[in-house]
Amino acid sequence: MIPTSLARNLRFPAIAAPMFLVSGPELVISTCKAGMIGTFPALNQRTTEGYEDWLNTIEAALGDQDASFGVNMIVHPTNSRLLADMQVTVKHKVPLVITSLGAVKDVVDAVHGYGGVVFHDIINARHARKAMEAGVDGLILVSAGAGGHAGNQHPFALLNEVRQFFKGTIILSGALSTGQDVAAALMAGADLGYMGTRFIATTEAQADPGYKQMLIDTTAKDITYTDAISGINANFLTPSLVANGLDPTAAKDPHHKIDMDEELNPEAKAWKTIWSAGQGVGSIHEVLPVAELVSRLQQEFNSAAQVFASKARDFN
Ligand SMILES: Cc1cc2nc3c(=O)[nH]c(=O)nc-3n(C[C@H](O)[C@H](O)[C@H](O)COP(=O)(O)O)c2cc1C
Repeated sequence: MIPTSLARNLRFPAIAAPMFLVSGPELVISTCKAGMIGTFPALNQRTTEGYEDWLNTIEAALGDQDASFGVNMIVHPTNSRLLADMQVTVKHKVPLVITSLGAVKDVVDAVHGYGGVVFHDIINARHARKAMEAGVDGLILVSAGAGGHAGNQHPFALLNEVRQFFKGTIILSGALSTGQDVAAALMAGADLGYMGTRFIATTEAQADPGYKQMLIDTTAKDITYTDAISGINANFLTPSLVANGLDPTAAKDPHHKIDMDEELNPEAKAWKTIWSAGQGVGSIHEVLPVAELVSRLQQEFNSAAQVFASKARDFN
C-alpha cells in the first residue's frame, strides 16, 4: 500500500532516489511536476540554513497538481547536523522522510507527529526488522546492483523475505532503469520503485557533464563494488576510480570508517570525483529533461502491463 498522502497526484509509481551531491531543488521540482516523488539528501546543502532555503524553494514551486517530495536524513552519530535538520523538517512538515544507516524511534515519532511518512533504507532482513521495530511506514529494499551504498542480495530474495514479516509499504531499489523494470518490481510485490542512477543522466541533476557522459559510455561490467571509498560497500564507476589513480582490483582499506562530517567537507574526494552508479548504467544512452524521462517511463510501464496481461492470458 502506498500511504494516502504520497499517493496524491502520483502518476508513476516510483521515487527518484536521494543522491549525495547530485539531487537538488531543480531535480526535485521537475520530478514532482512530472508526477513522480522527488527527493534530496538534506546534507546536499552545507548548512541547516541552506537546507531550509531549499525547502522554501521547493514548497514555493510545487502546486496542487504535483506529486509529493521527500528528504533524506543520515541517521549516524557522525552526522552532527541531524538534530537541527530534523527541527527544520518538522517545522516544514516535509511529507516524506527517508532515513539511512540508522532507524531511530525518536526520528520516526517526530515525523509522525505532524502526519509525515518515514521510509527507511535496508539491505537485509535483519536491518528490516530493526527498522520495523522503530515504527517506520515503509522499507526501501536496496538490493544488489544499486547505485550508492548497495546491498548484495538479489531483489526477489530480499523482497520475499521482508514481505513475510513486514506489512507496510515496500519500495524496491537496485538497477531499475526503465518503466518495464518498475512494472516488474510491482509484479514481484513492491508498492513503489526507487530509481537513482537513471536520474543522474537528466538535465536537472547537479552532476558534472563528464559524470553524465560516463553513464552513457559504460555498462554493468564497468561498476566496482567496494568499501574502500567511504567505509561502507558502494558501487562506483570503474573509469572514475582509475581517473583518480585508484586500482579497482586493489585490496580494500578496512581502516576507512564512514564519517558524515568528513563527507560534508567540500574538499572530500569521495563522491565528488569518484562517481557512484548502479549496474543499470547499460540502459542509459542519453541525458534527458526529467519531464521527458518520466513520460517515457510511463509509456514503458503501460506497455509492459499490456504485454504481461496478454502473456498471462496464454496460461489461463
Ligand atoms: C551518486 C549516488 C549518490 C547516492 N547518495 C545517497 C544518499 O545520499 N542517501 C541515500 O539514502 N541514498 C543514496 N544513494 C542511493 C540511492 O538513493 C538509491 O538507493 C540507488 O541509487 C538506487 O539504485 P540505482 O542507482 O541502481 O537506481 C545514492 C546513489 C547514487 C548513485
